[in-house]
Amino acid sequence: MSLRNIRVIGDDILRKKSREITEINDRIRELLDDMAETMRDREGVGLAAPQVGILRRAIIVDVGEGLFEFINPEIIESDGEVSMTEGCLSVPDKIGEVRRPQHIKVRAYNRDGEEFELEAHDYFARAICHEVDHLNGVVFLDKADTIANKE
Ligand code: CO
Repeated sequence: MSLRNIRVIGDDILRKKSREITEINDRIRELLDDMAETMRDREGVGLAAPQVGILRRAIIVDVGEGLFEFINPEIIESDGEVSMTEGCLSVPDKIGEVRRPQHIKVRAYNRDGEEFELEAHDYFARAICHEVDHLNGVVFLDKADTIANKE
């Protein structure tokens, strides 16, 4: 495993749409391992592949309940709305209030190529939605009702 550089806002790659992963192979598993190491090193709760310069649809989330990996994630249901402060490893100096669904259902593939569905609520749902946005070139600043400088 190795640490990868995190791209920060201003880098064009964060504005591009990531491509579907068509083959889940060792290269993808290595990417997921490196993303986890990089996220933990920076004490993040989520990371998307484009944040490490790879325009592929893979995200990871760990909000304190273990590491979850999602390949080609799709949010297939969402309801409720909660506004909360969030930040991003690619936006080091800002935080913002963002409205997100309270509950979601996500469909994705795991690192063994198996499709799964998962329901998530509250902060976990928020983190997944935030990371899926990255796959579409969207960062939280685009959706925030208010933005503040991080202390
Ligand atoms: Co982010």
